[in-house]
Amino acid sequence: MSQPVGIVTGGASGIGLAITKHLLSRGYKVIIADLNPASGERLSSELGPNVLYHHTDVSSFTQQRALFSLAFKWGGNRLDFLAANAGIADRQSLYETEEKVDEDGLPLELDLKTVQVILDAALQGIWLFKFYARKNKVPGGKIVITASAAGLYPMPTNPQYAAAKHGLVGLTRSAGPVFLKENITINCICPAFVITGLAPPDIRDIWPKEHVTPMSTVIKAFDTFLDNDQMTGETVELTLDELHFRKHVDFPNESQEWIHTQSSALWEKGYQKPPAS
Ligand SMILES: NC(=O)c1ccc[n+]([C@@H]2O[C@H](COP(=O)([O-])OP(=O)(O)OC[C@H]3O[C@@H](n4cnc5c(N)ncnc54)[C@H](O)[C@@H]3O)[C@@H](O)[C@H]2O)c1
Repeated sequence: MSQPVGIVTGGASGIGLAITKHLLSRGYKVIIADLNPASGERLSSELGPNVLYHHTDVSSFTQQRALFSLAFKWGGNRLDFLAANAGIADRQSLYETEEKVDEDGLPLELDLKTVQVILDAALQGIWLFKFYARKNKVPGGKIVITASAAGLYPMPTNPQYAAAKHGLVGLTRSAGPVFLKENITINCICPAFVITGLAPPDIRDIWPKEHVTPMSTVIKAFDTFLDNDQMTGETVELTLDELHFRKHVDFPNESQEWIHTQSSALWEKGYQKPPAS
């Protein structure tokens, strides 16, 4: 029987690298999609023939599409798993006080790379994954998205990051249950502070040790999703050695409860026709 195949975006460092190693230990072949050719190439030779590094900027649809096509072929026409994990902090401060303007004195566009790498890329990743998952011998597969505690709580220093991570939680809760009928599960993890290359080195050095979530908690969450074919649309907060499954906010009244639990037939009727372009 052929080996299961996974894609890990941002797999050359931190959480993505830990996931890559863990998938290998579970018998997977893994494609690392990252922007770091030096460590990517070193890792694929260190980790052996079941790992391939593919240079990919996940914020580019054409690059992700090439990645998925390669993964499916390299895996012998199968794709079982996607860790939509790549992420970056805000590239430009929303609060910038030094106003930059064009020649007409109009404000320049805010750099939205963080939203593109985190949220746009995960949406395109689901879109591409389902295309290949439907072609699997046994159609289906699993997606785990790396959201963040910043997808559950405010993060004033990185509002773009927080907005994108909140978006991932909404995406998981909305699309996860729908894809189950195609044997595809989508869940997300919301880690607190894990020591990786993400936070600036100055913060890593001064961060109190008692507030560090170990990588073993991240792996425990991945195993929970990998071992369950029915669990989907779940958001799990990771703090210290604990997993907390988080539900949406409470309904304030019966009307909101009805709308969000009983009205799906009405919504489906309303969206039967394709949207006017
Ligand atoms: N470390 C934490 O405390 C923490 C907490 C919550 C969520 N997260 C999330 O975990 C994920 C992994 O981050 P990490 O902490 O391991 O950081 P990291 O910086 O160690 O790893 C991120 C990896 O993503 C890659 N990457 C960045 N932009 C990319 C792009 N456009 N295309 C492909 N790859 C790209 C980087 O090269 C890097 O290898 C991120 O989504 C991050 O937001 C991290």
